[in-house]
Formats: sequence, structure tokens, C-alpha cells
Amino acid sequence: MTPHIHAELGDFATTVLMPGDPLRAKFIAETYLDEVREVSNVRNILAYTGSYQGTRVSVMASGMGMPSIGIYSWELFTEFGVENIIRVGSCGAYTEKLKLHDVLLATKVWSESSFAKTQNGETSPFNEPSAKLSQFLSNSAKRLNTPIHSGIVHSSDVFYRKDHMSFQRIHQEVGALAVEMEAFALFHNARTLNKNAACLLTVSDHLVTEEATTSTERETGFKRMIEIALASLQD
Ligand code: HPA
Repeated sequence: MTPHIHAELGDFATTVLMPGDPLRAKFIAETYLDEVREVSNVRNILAYTGSYQGTRVSVMASGMGMPSIGIYSWELFTEFGVENIIRVGSCGAYTEKLKLHDVLLATKVWSESSFAKTQNGETSPFNEPSAKLSQFLSNSAKRLNTPIHSGIVHSSDVFYRKDHMSFQRIHQEVGALAVEMEAFALFHNARTLNKNAACLLTVSDHLVTEEATTSTERETGFKRMIEIALASLQD
């Protein structure tokens, strides 16, 4: 039991899939998992444990933003025996190389966030995922014949920026292909605690073309991403 997760040690599998939205966590649990049960629901941050093709796995929402995923990932890693967290989220594309619904594997994240500096004094704006987990995800995409992109992702603390074209500079200077709001804190916590984290994203909106997905369309890309994450558990 932690302040934000009312569950017991043993209630979570060693690997947790982590979407931002609690209803996405519920959808994944109900659609893909067998013998599934809810293990926590504090603040409606729903968490489930079940099995996928015989492998025990949990799914839990992170909420939006680095403070939120920072809390849940820390408690999962330190109090519930969790070893691996795979974020399965959405992102806004910074380049026309990415199309709506495409799936992107984060190979590195860049952030202006003070999360790492505040947490333990680290000042690098970059963070990296677990190479092993990321390799499992890219192997899994190949096995499923699902093409995915991989590259640098911008983790932002601010969704509504005064200068909404500032992404062009971040794309040019850092090479970020897309923006989301959680991976930097997740990767930082995992590295700090000697655990593993990785991040798969689907493109839900496009900052260059200004297109956005409808909620039905979003589901299609989302399902492909979830299937890659679940199939990676076989490795
Ligand atoms: N900005 C930040 N985070 C996001 C976006 C965005 O445009 N789309 C999905 N997550």
C-alpha cells in the first residue's frame, strides 16, 4: 500500500503497460487479458493484472504529465516489485515523416523539464530507455509485420505554448520527431532505480499539417501499438 496505489505486494506483474488514460487501461485489460482483476483504483487511476497468452502482465494508467507518471512509476518500482514499465501513449508529430496513427518507439527523450534536476540533481536534458526492452519491442513489431518508426522524442511540461511554432526549433536543434509529456520522468525513474522502461507512441495529432485523429481512428493505431507491446512479453 502506497499513498497513491492501494494494492498489496504481489498484486502487480513484473511488467506493467502504462497508457495515460485510465479508460485505455480498462480497455486493454478487458480486450486482451485473461483472468483479469482490478488491483487499484485510487483517484480513478485504474490498474489491472491478468495474463496475455499465458504471461502475467499488469496495466495501469499514468495520468497526464511528468509529475503524475513520476509518482506512479516510482511507487510501482519501489513498493510493488515491478521491473519493467512500457509506456503506451500518444504523441504529436513534429515532422511529415510521421503520419497520423503511425507508431513510434522512443530511442531517446529530450526535455526542458526540471524533473531530473529536482529529483536527484541530474542536469542532462536527455534520458534513454532500456536498450533491452526497446529491442524486445522492435523485435515484436517485426514479428507482427507492423512497421514502426524510432527516434528522439520531446517530453514537454506544457501542452499550450504561447509560441505554438516553437516545435520547429526543437525539431531542428534536437532532432525530436514528436512530442508527448511523460517519457522523460519515466526513463529517469527507471534508470535511477536500476529498473527498465521503454515508450511506444501512436501519432494522435500533427503539429506540421495540423491534422488530428478522430477517436475511432485513434483506436486503430492504438490497438496496433498495444499488440506490439503485449507480443514483446514473449521475449
Ligand atoms: N503535445 C504534447 N503532448 C501530446 C501531444 C501534443 O501535441 N499529442 C499527444 N500528446
